[in-house]
Amino acid sequence: MSKKIAAEMAALAAQLEEHNHRYHVLAAPLITDRKYDRLLADLQELERAHPELQRPDSPTLRVGGAPTSQFPTYRHEVPMLSLDNSYSRQDVLEFDRRVREALPGELVEYIAELKIDGVALNLSYEGSLLVRAVTRGDGVSGDEVTANARTIRSIPLRLQEPGIRAEVRGEVYMAAEDFAALNRSREQEGEALFANPRNSTAGSLKLQDPRLVASRRLRFFAYWLHQPEGKTLTQHEQLETLAGWGLPVNPERARCAGIEQVFAFYDECEASREHLPYDIDGIVVKVDNLDQQRRLGHTAKSPRSAIAYKFRAAQARTRLLNISLQVGRTGTVTPVALLEPVLLAGSTVQRATLHNEDEIRRRDLRKGDLVILEKGGDVIPKVVGVVLEERPSWAVPFQFPEHCPACQSPLLRDPEEVATRCENPACPAQLKRRLEHFAARTALDIEGLGPAVVDQLVDRLLVRDVGDLYDLDLETLAGLERLAKKSAQNLLDGLDRSLQRPFDRVLFGLGIRHVGATVALALARHFRDLDALSRASAEELEAVPEIGPTITHSVCAFFANPQNQPLLAKLRRAGLQLALPEEEVAAPPNFFTGKTAVLTGALMHYTREQAAACIQRLGGRIAPSVSKKTDLVVAGESAGSKLDKARELGVLVLSEEEFTARLAEAGIVVVPDPL
Ligand code: IVH
Repeated sequence: MSKKIAAEMAALAAQLEEHNHRYHVLAAPLITDRKYDRLLADLQELERAHPELQRPDSPTLRVGGAPTSQFPTYRHEVPMLSLDNSYSRQDVLEFDRRVREALPGELVEYIAELKIDGVALNLSYEGSLLVRAVTRGDGVSGDEVTANARTIRSIPLRLQEPGIRAEVRGEVYMAAEDFAALNRSREQEGEALFANPRNSTAGSLKLQDPRLVASRRLRFFAYWLHQPEGKTLTQHEQLETLAGWGLPVNPERARCAGIEQVFAFYDECEASREHLPYDIDGIVVKVDNLDQQRRLGHTAKSPRSAIAYKFRAAQARTRLLNISLQVGRTGTVTPVALLEPVLLAGSTVQRATLHNEDEIRRRDLRKGDLVILEKGGDVIPKVVGVVLEERPSWAVPFQFPEHCPACQSPLLRDPEEVATRCENPACPAQLKRRLEHFAARTALDIEGLGPAVVDQLVDRLLVRDVGDLYDLDLETLAGLERLAKKSAQNLLDGLDRSLQRPFDRVLFGLGIRHVGATVALALARHFRDLDALSRASAEELEAVPEIGPTITHSVCAFFANPQNQPLLAKLRRAGLQLALPEEEVAAPPNFFTGKTAVLTGALMHYTREQAAACIQRLGGRIAPSVSKKTDLVVAGESAGSKLDKARELGVLVLSEEEFTARLAEAGIVVVPDPL
């Protein structure tokens, strides 16, 4: 029976991956999204019924599994070097001269590729299966982010040719449209914007919750292959091999007989980069012949056979008309440059963040200055300098205001921090941002509570904290400007619906510093309800795997603040969800309930993630390292220092067999993996 089901699951997985490859790599889908989702749902259902049969290349892994608390560090099989950068033809001519001098009398051909502006990732394939994904880190070792990489649809979980063992490198990136959509939704939700697609890619890849990573729609291009028993002779053949295995390889590349052809490719790319659906920051020039590459060798940092030839950032000059202050939800005050509108790389710019007081002082920016704006990889333009010769005679150094522009309370600067803050919790500007955050889609999702309504509610003193929203009535709302009775009723309905949002979103909506959506969910899952959370000591908070001292401090400060007590009372009275529902409470009590486990060594019948997921599903927690708080260690083959530490501390150690038996007692049966 189980064999037949396993075969059915394998067939479904193969079918799904085929369609996935057609959609995400070849951009030539054969079936509709709905059909795909239905197949995926079929497989998910089978896996739910038979979790032990889930395969390590199951396409369901792409939707993201259980959160991890910390990424293990992994040492690269082959160190990940970086490239020398150059910005001028002169530098590239020098590179060409050095290469040819080192290979006297030989024919040298180059391959020029796009330099994708993302984050490097190393993929390890064994038996054609994706077994590991590791970030560059310091080049020697990086973070193991396999579960996150599996959510990237263009990364094959299994190569299309059997029996391959290889290291593949490439760039994870975010397409321009996905980046814009992400920032739009972050803006709506009052979250900090990402400066550019590269930053959002790096941030996404480091998220602890693979489900969130999946929602970020990252993509991948492969550009490097290390295959001990490989037969290819050139980089261009390597790329063809990668593509043949089903990996996405960028089609824009040129084989160049000499450096002049490289320059032609560079010019073409620079001219057309605006039309690409993703960011590039230059081209990469590589000696095509792999044997020549090997003989050229590398310096401590970079190979001598390749160089990055980067584009210059687009610049524009304009007048700085004024510097205004923006007050954020948590009181951080950010200076913003108001500029004479100017066209820069295709869009009109009239505002640019100046980050903080030090930044203004460092550049000695003055009202009236002619400033230089730059838009490099960054979508957000930066003020990078002042044209001093053009400074008006009347320009005086900028005096950072000493009072909040919204509430006039004195601004404070923590000597440890660069940020200036308004510490008045009743500051109307902060309150407005807090209300907008509370109403955001990922928080309480209150329809009809936009900035125009928020402004009036605060300015007319109708709302002093988010709890007051629930005391509003139709008459009051209909009395606001530009709010018809129908819209007022809509808002009341929206508030009513918000009473159903789960506890973690209420917690996120409160806008406690450093408590984003992911942390809120972790806190909600751990403490279950607001009472337990508000009573939690610093030690109890820090015992939650995702929670460090900064978050702990901020959560404690929030609940200790007497001014927040009436707010919490109002939320309670209004009937918001202040506990997770019973169904969310994990499995019935069992051996693993409430225990903190550490996994070490190689397990024969589970991937790390599967073992971790089993423990978490049974109400246990996973910690990255052994400490006094560890309740048990599951030790596989060749377990190392963690096992020693566990023995030293007298922590219970389970062998894989014992672990399997304990799982069986708790109702999870694992049969040996058919693979
Ligand atoms: S080859 C030895 N090819 O640029 C490094 N890199 O430092 C081999 N990059 O970290 C890199 N597109 O993340 C190569 N077509 C491409 C690339 C590329 C982007 C990134 C890579 C590397 C950085 C250069």
